[in-house]
Amino acid sequence: MDVLVVDHPLAKSRLTAMRDARTDNGQFRAALHELTTMLVYEAARSFATEQFPVQTPVAVAEGTRLANPPLLVPVLRAGLGMADSALALLPESSMGFVGLARDEETYEPRAYMESLPGDLKGIPVLVLDPMLATGGSLLHCVRLLVDRGATDITVLCVLAAPAGIERLADSGLPIRLVTAAIDEKLNERMYIVPGLGDAGDRQFGGM
Ligand code: URA
Repeated sequence: MDVLVVDHPLAKSRLTAMRDARTDNGQFRAALHELTTMLVYEAARSFATEQFPVQTPVAVAEGTRLANPPLLVPVLRAGLGMADSALALLPESSMGFVGLARDEETYEPRAYMESLPGDLKGIPVLVLDPMLATGGSLLHCVRLLVDRGATDITVLCVLAAPAGIERLADSGLPIRLVTAAIDEKLNERMYIVPGLGDAGDRQFGGM
């Protein structure tokens, strides 16, 4: 599995704001918004483009556009905070949604919503989920996409834990991972350490 760690001073500063326990919900959402822009920008470097003629006020120039804009799939609830900025950078994209909650005893994902196109053959997919912890939720989401024919899936995370990366890689599914950092480990409650806490609660408050 290809893993791209976006190593950029601005990405690191936004991530630092998100890690800081003193950052309030609004500041956390703003930092996630900006960091997502940077992650999408880096992830899009490898997107296929096509050329077309564009008329400037002076002459005809060669224009460039995405050949195949990706489907964006935020994983609810925490991925919701990445959706707006990804769509702003990729206005040609459409969006699907997957809602997953984790069972706090087994830590396995429980799906409560699935709103995806039926046929994803030939469509690149960008999955938005800030935290790759055990990999259970993301693997569940990727399987839904693969079942619909997706063969080109990029998972965009803010933080990844080694165990989650290993689980996605071992699945053999067609996944590329783009993340702002790889943290040390998971704790006994399956939180990423040092991490940033619960990415849903930090954005929207506790449930
Ligand atoms: N989900 C989160 O929001 N935070 C973690 O640390 C792990 C999973």
